[in-house]
Amino acid sequence: MRKCSACHDHKKQGGHGKGPHLWNLFNRKAGSIDGFKFSAAMRDSGHTWTINTLNYYLTNTERAVPGRLMEFRGIRRDQERANLIAFLLQFNDNPPALSD
Ligand code: HEC
Repeated sequence: MRKCSACHDHKKQGGHGKGPHLWNLFNRKAGSIDGFKFSAAMRDSGHTWTINTLNYYLTNTERAVPGRLMEFRGIRRDQERANLIAFLLQFNDNPPALSD
């Protein structure tokens, strides 16, 4: 999360920074949270954030959302992405079930 916190806040009482607030990220439509100016690429990407789509996005952000504004390429190591996604799961009012 150190790599993300320069731009993102994930705490409930937080807000937008250079990137959008990441509280309640799961099951949210990409580019849909109020008060942040997303790129059209993100808004029209068609992603809904789940464990799988987030894993895909964070592997290679430009491949997942061509033209995205987030200046961060991605995380190659599977273990590092898994740890990060597990961390982000905690910061939701209703975290998704780990059934799939
Ligand atoms: C240099 C700043 C920066 C860094 C570092 C960064 N992001 Fe982002 N992030 C952004 C911006 C800007 C957007 C909006 C992109 C757009 O609209 O195209 C974004 C968008 C996102 C979104 C989509 C949110 C939504 O509501 O649709 C997710 C998820 C995300 N970032 C997660 C991360 C994670 C996890 C990390 C750390 C691995 C990270 N970001 C690192 C700036 C950053």
